[in-house]
Amino acid sequence: MSTITQRNEDVRPMVDAACKYGYNYLGIPNKDKQFCLLAAADVHGDKVRMASAIQYMNEVPSIDAGIILGDMAPSNFRNPHEWYYDCVRQAIKPWYTVIGNHDCGNSDKGEISAAQDQIFDRWIKPTLPVIGDISIKKPYYAVRHDRYKVELIVLDCHENPDMKDENGDFLVHRGANCFSQAQIDWLTAELAAVPQGWTVAAALHTLSDEIELDRESCWNSPRTGGPVSDDNCYKGMIPSIFDAWIHGKRIERTFKSPSRSGKYDACMPAISVSADYTERGEGIFACYLCGHDHRDEAGRCADFPEQHYFAFNTAAADNWQNGGCDFARAHGTKAEDCLTAVTIDTQERKVKLVRIGANFTMDMERREFVVAGY
Ligand SMILES: [Fe+2]
Repeated sequence: MSTITQRNEDVRPMVDAACKYGYNYLGIPNKDKQFCLLAAADVHGDKVRMASAIQYMNEVPSIDAGIILGDMAPSNFRNPHEWYYDCVRQAIKPWYTVIGNHDCGNSDKGEISAAQDQIFDRWIKPTLPVIGDISIKKPYYAVRHDRYKVELIVLDCHENPDMKDENGDFLVHRGANCFSQAQIDWLTAELAAVPQGWTVAAALHTLSDEIELDRESCWNSPRTGGPVSDDNCYKGMIPSIFDAWIHGKRIERTFKSPSRSGKYDACMPAISVSADYTERGEGIFACYLCGHDHRDEAGRCADFPEQHYFAFNTAAADNWQNGGCDFARAHGTKAEDCLTAVTIDTQERKVKLVRIGANFTMDMERREFVVAGY
């Protein structure tokens, strides 16, 4: 049985080229190497593919770190989870965890869903040794890669309030898109503290904003739909904050959750965003990295077209998880893998994606790499 690195040996030159890894024409080590993050999405309990992701990150020198973009849990919070720690413990480079809807419970039922502290304790706390030093003990955090002047901001877009009804069930579905005032205050302050000249990328399970897919991009296909979350909670809030930061502007706005029922209205109060980036000046934003849709998507926020959005097909190789996606996945071939090397090229201001594993869509389109300028 071949390892993931052996199966995908053919894309190694592409991964290396994306971050200019290696030596220049004089044989001198290349100083131009750019930050390269291995992205996996929605592994949903597939521990074989999860272990493969960690192995690939460990074994390929041009990759600096890795991330899972949410939905580690097969279905809900009660599912076994130790397998995830077993995989992450093998990481010899930083590995970042993003919370997805299934990791919270994807239900309002108290017995299969979790409160916010439980979510941190289950999914983030045991991985702290491979995240590095984060001062905030929350499922949202920021990490800096000094060598590349890149900051990665991990958001928790399922930060549902902990309020329960008389039956012990949560008032708000653990999987609805939601942020707390505290998380947004943290985000605006974190952005203010990003050093000048650094590049920021944001990772979150899903962005509840309309996305204009780039229909010319090989990363999309006729089967790819743009993500608009059903609940659309606090629509426009995250891109508005980044827009103010990108342009060195001030933002004073209130964002409301959609009014669906009395219980939601009571639990999800309006969030006020207050930040002033005029003194800091313009910020450099690379892109959002997302999961959730089990499809590859490349596009931009409809209302903020400067802001790139990329989502990745599920890393899980079973047929059920792959039901809605573009790829045929075959065990024992390289198509059983589906990971993406994301390079942030801060010199050329480009995001370069390279697919590791499943390269052919069911429409027989080849999906190997895509480059987008920011
Ligand atoms: Fe999801």
